[in-house]
Amino acid sequence: MDYPTLLARLGEGSAHPGGFQATKELIGQIDFPRGAAVLESGCGTGRTACYLASLGLNVTAIDRNEDMIQKATHRARLNGLPIRIMQADAASLPFPDETFDAVFTESVTAFTQGSSALNEYWRVLKPTGVLYDRELAFAKKLTAAQKKKLQSFYGLQHLRTVPGWLKLLSTSKFHKYSATPFSQLKQQASDNDPLRLVDHELFSKPDAVAMMMTNERLMTSFSKLMGSVVITAWKG
Ligand SMILES: C[S@@+](CC[C@H](N)C(=O)[O-])C[C@H]1O[C@@H](n2cnc3c(N)ncnc32)[C@H](O)[C@@H]1O
Repeated sequence: MDYPTLLARLGEGSAHPGGFQATKELIGQIDFPRGAAVLESGCGTGRTACYLASLGLNVTAIDRNEDMIQKATHRARLNGLPIRIMQADAASLPFPDETFDAVFTESVTAFTQGSSALNEYWRVLKPTGVLYDRELAFAKKLTAAQKKKLQSFYGLQHLRTVPGWLKLLSTSKFHKYSATPFSQLKQQASDNDPLRLVDHELFSKPDAVAMMMTNERLMTSFSKLMGSVVITAWKG
């Protein structure tokens, strides 16, 4: 089982730095116009997509992982929200050019080669469109051994510092972008997700339990180095 599938089976609703509280704060700051066409890339179990749709936005959500798509579809149905949910790869989006007013993504670009996903986000944005991307960032460059540990467990393609993210953006088609300073991961307040759908049989599977323990161990040992960055990039 890979890490995204573990998250999907655990029904994790906010698998990104800062959790759902950070999502709500960022969306509150953006103040999307009602009815705006928003693509959520890497929607996971659909919590953010449902929140965006509940604000009256026209939401399309994609994820590469089939289990995530099932959970997101279920969540949208329980909420009675008309979200278009599709299994797709962020690096090859099945949408025409200039489809969306905004792309919103949380902890997904780090799982891709980076530039291919960013260039796809640029392509599907309307000329006035904006990308909002919250990503895992590191306080300093990691050693090769540290990288190997994190990449092999989480399937992350790159582990970037904030300057590393800015460097990636400089090679993308976005010419105007900004990044917040590095923000260290904080202890998250308990984040009750009323529609969390957990596959309980997971807890009787030794390989899944071992993965949960490895995750805890890695999160603890890297807690001082791990943090987040929020990238905003304008197409126009
Ligand atoms: C850490 S989870 C974050 C999920 C969700 N954004 C959230 O915050 O809860 C990473 C997600 O990115 C998805 N993902 C990874 N690579 C992807 C790709 N190339 N295209 C689409 N989704 C991808 C995974 O399946 C997973 O759902």
